[in-house]
Amino acid sequence: MNTASTGSLPGLKGKVALITGGTSGIGRATALALAKAGGHVVVMGRRAPEGEAVANEISGHGVKGVFVQGDVTNERDVEKAVAAAVGLTGSLDFAFNNAGVELGGVLTADASAEGYKKVMDINVLGVLLSMKHEIKAMLKNNGGKGGGSIVNTSSVAGSIGMAGAGVYVASKHAVSGLTKSAALEVAKSGIRVNTVSPGGIDTAMLHRFTGSKNPDAMAWMNGAHPVGRIGTPDEIAMPVLFLFSDASTFVTGSDLIVDGGFTAR
Ligand SMILES: NC(=O)c1ccc[n+]([C@@H]2O[C@H](COP(=O)([O-])OP(=O)(O)OC[C@H]3O[C@@H](n4cnc5c(N)ncnc54)[C@H](O)[C@@H]3O)[C@@H](O)[C@H]2O)c1
Repeated sequence: MNTASTGSLPGLKGKVALITGGTSGIGRATALALAKAGGHVVVMGRRAPEGEAVANEISGHGVKGVFVQGDVTNERDVEKAVAAAVGLTGSLDFAFNNAGVELGGVLTADASAEGYKKVMDINVLGVLLSMKHEIKAMLKNNGGKGGGSIVNTSSVAGSIGMAGAGVYVASKHAVSGLTKSAALEVAKSGIRVNTVSPGGIDTAMLHRFTGSKNPDAMAWMNGAHPVGRIGTPDEIAMPVLFLFSDASTFVTGSDLIVDGGFTAR
C-alpha cells in the first residue's frame, strides 16, 4: 500500500507519466504516488496480471491508469508504450525508466557473456531505447518548444564498486553516463534528465539479490545503511516525484542519491 503523502509538489496534477518496470517494487510505488498527486500513468511491464492490477489501482485515484505489456529491450514495445502515454492527453510529460534486473554473487573471474548480455540489455539498452522515444515525444510538447522530465533508476551501484556484482555495477554506471549525456543534449528544450540512485530498498529484487529472507542477511543489510535500515519503495517514489515536479526546474544531469547514508562513508 502506498502511504506516502505527495505534499504540495507543484506541476504534477493532470500530467502524464510513463513508468517502466511499474508492475512491482519502486516502479509500482511511484505510479501510485503520482496517481495520488493527480497524474495520469502508463505502466509498462512484462507481467499482465500485475500490470492490470496496478492500472486499476491508479484509476482508483480518479486519474487515467493504463497498462502496456512490453519488454524494454524491444524497441517496438517501447514505442507502443510511449504512444499510449501520448494518447492519454496529447503529451508525455514525465518518464521513469526504472525496469531493471539484478546480478549478484558472480565474481569477475566467473563472469559469463550471457549474464552480461541479459543485464546490460535490460538495464542499459532498455533505458537508451526508452529515452530515445520519450525525448522524441517530449520535444513536441509546448507547441514544439519541448518540455518534460525523465528520471532513470540508477543505484548506489552507479557510483561505487561492489564485489561479486561487477556487471550490475557496470550497468548502473552506464545509466549515469547515458543520463548525463542526454541531459546535455536536451537542456535547451526544457527537458530535464536525472537519475535517482537508491540504496537497499525493500523489494523483491533486494531479496533476490541478497538472499535477505535469511534473517542474518537482512540484519547485515539493515546495518550496512548508516540510518540502521533499508528503505521502502515509497521513500524512492517521493524523490522521483520531486524530480518530475516544478520544484526541481533547475535540476538536470544530476544524480539524486537516496540511500540512508550508504555511500556517505
Ligand atoms: N531494490 C533495491 O534495493 C534497489 C537498489 C538500487 C536500485 N534498484 C533499481 O530499482 C529498479 C526497480 O527495482 P525494484 O527494486 O523495484 O525491483 P523489482 O524487481 O520489483 O522491479 C523491477 C521491475 O522491472 C521489470 N523488468 C525487468 N526486466 C524488464 C524488461 N525487460 N522489460 C520490462 N520490465 C522489466 C520487472 O518485471 C519488475 O517489475 C531497478 O532498476 C533496480 O536495479 C533497486
